[in-house]
Amino acid sequence: MKMPENDKQSLSMVTCTAPVNIAVIKYWGKRDEDLILPINSSLSVTLHQDQLKTTTTIACSRNFQQDRIWLNGKEEDISNSRLQSCLQEIRRVSRKRRNSGDSTSDVSSVSHKVHICSVNNFPTAAGLASSASGYACLVYTLSQLFGVESEQLSAVARQGSGSACRSLYGGFVQWKLGEQLDGKDSLAEQVESESYWPELRILILVVSAEQKSVGSTSGMHTSVETSQLLKYRADVVVPSRMEKMIRVIRERDFPAFGELTMKDSNQFHAICLDTYPPIFYLNNMSHRIISLVHHYNQYYGETRVAYTFDAGPNAVIYTLQDHLPEFVQVVRHFFPPEVNGEEFVKGLPVCSADLSEELKRDINMEPTPKAIRYIISTKAGPGPCVVKDPNHHLLGADGLPKKSAISD
Ligand code: DP6
Repeated sequence: MKMPENDKQSLSMVTCTAPVNIAVIKYWGKRDEDLILPINSSLSVTLHQDQLKTTTTIACSRNFQQDRIWLNGKEEDISNSRLQSCLQEIRRVSRKRRNSGDSTSDVSSVSHKVHICSVNNFPTAAGLASSASGYACLVYTLSQLFGVESEQLSAVARQGSGSACRSLYGGFVQWKLGEQLDGKDSLAEQVESESYWPELRILILVVSAEQKSVGSTSGMHTSVETSQLLKYRADVVVPSRMEKMIRVIRERDFPAFGELTMKDSNQFHAICLDTYPPIFYLNNMSHRIISLVHHYNQYYGETRVAYTFDAGPNAVIYTLQDHLPEFVQVVRHFFPPEVNGEEFVKGLPVCSADLSEELKRDINMEPTPKAIRYIISTKAGPGPCVVKDPNHHLLGADGLPKKSAISD
């Protein structure tokens, strides 16, 4: 759309970034699919945006004829029902604030159409659900544009993708399932900030074999329909695990945190197997990583490293800074990387370490070359941020994606 020169001023634009989160108590199953209300509470760690983030620019103008969205350089269908839920909901909340005289910002823009442009700084191959950071970023950026208070945002982001509500906060975040039918109390809240446990470190092990897996939305739908274990998990297991998880995080008790994280990941995958027909997210490499972690912990007689897996084969490892160099060397030894010039460890630097012969012997596994493509090394990080520098806007003054935001 070509815009007359003197109309350019009527364009308001905001750019924000939002993080990815990885659950240590998993969300799996909805009690209301339209409002996205879960059958159990969940808890996650927000990852640092220096390594993984979504960036979104939203412009609004009275000259725009329709809402439009570009994701990772391609225009997508804005009529997607979850996108529509978020747009409608944020406009509704903003109008309500305006009508009650609460809003300090210029909210005339709420009736204007928007152009949305969003990119991730992490490859799709990392297998990380981009929907959490994507919807969190969409909703946070809209809130900045339309002047909506941040306490109201998690209920909106939740309606884009359940796990997205947890990406609105940094550090350790719980999503309380709530009791109300309208979902007003099904909200995310911070348990502790990202600076609470600075020694905690996170590795994403990106495995090579790519398989097309069942998406979380349809997977959890089938689990709710068919798995009896799921009901037991929601009613009996998760309530006490949530309490315990919050306690061990507050105590910075890594062995207890790690054990509970692994048990909860295993129970989630057990429910996938109990689903009919069964869902397999883990592959042989995931199983080998699980064995490696248990052998490593057994060698030291304590839980030094913990794994968790979402709806795919890539492992997310939690450990403490002191154990990080040795564990990365263990991974390098048992999963020797392809020598192709691509760096094996990306993200936060990891010091080198020597492995004792005894440790290698004790782990007693055959090395599997090239099974892990690379590792992303990161830590807990903050929630969404506003990007002040206008040079970082993904949309140009004409309201269309800049060349740098378009890939071919
Ligand atoms: C296994 O939030 O992607 O990652 O609400 O249908 O969009 P929808 O599902 P989504 O499910 C995430 C499932 C999980 C566990 C978790 O993140 O808690």
